[in-house]
Amino acid sequence: QDQLKHAVARAAVDEILPMLDRQTVVGIGTGSTANCFIDALAEYRHDFDGAVASSQATADRLKKHNIPVYDLNGVGTLPVYVDGADEINHQLHMIKGGGAALTREKIVAACAQTFICIADGSKHVDRLGGFPLPIEVIPMARSYVAREIVKLGGDPVYREGVVTDNGNQIIDIFNFMIDDPLDMEVRINSLVGVVTHGIFAVRGADILLLGREDGVARYT
Ligand code: A5P
Repeated sequence: QDQLKHAVARAAVDEILPMLDRQTVVGIGTGSTANCFIDALAEYRHDFDGAVASSQATADRLKKHNIPVYDLNGVGTLPVYVDGADEINHQLHMIKGGGAALTREKIVAACAQTFICIADGSKHVDRLGGFPLPIEVIPMARSYVAREIVKLGGDPVYREGVVTDNGNQIIDIFNFMIDDPLDMEVRINSLVGVVTHGIFAVRGADILLLGREDGVARYT
């Protein structure tokens, strides 16, 4: 799987190279696949300006490569955002947040003209929900949100010991298959105390680069 991650990371670099000039700021996600992308992109660090990071971990990795990291508020719209996913379906809707970086990922993705998802073939599913859905909550709302999720049919589990980059907590929803990701994204967004959750459907991916044993497949 590591080889597949390197292959999609390389394919994502090839995909974005034509978009880069000395002024370009690239949005970059979080996780092991995004890390491969950062390492592959570093080779071209003189061909673009810098990056906006979706987590402290990503910012730290970018800085190690001497890639400037910018505050999103100062840069406006990004031409491209590259990130992994925990699951992605055929409509390019995703579950994300396994690494607890979902809120910043969703914000940076919202500011990007093009979202490129990079994943190995094991992440490609017909129906989202096999991977437990992460929800970032304001700490005092954790039990309330969990009770509301039970009403929706899911089994919430507190991800103990995890504090997000925003100082919040995560609950993971098990046994919660998602037939209509667009509808469910909006429904869970409307629960008081939810900061963000891991359904990325309203703003899904535009391009999926999927690593398989026989090569990298490209979906739009
Ligand atoms: C981080 O919070 C997640 O959304 C990641 O994008 C996701 O967990 C993918 O990570 P890997 O590339 O490590 O599988």
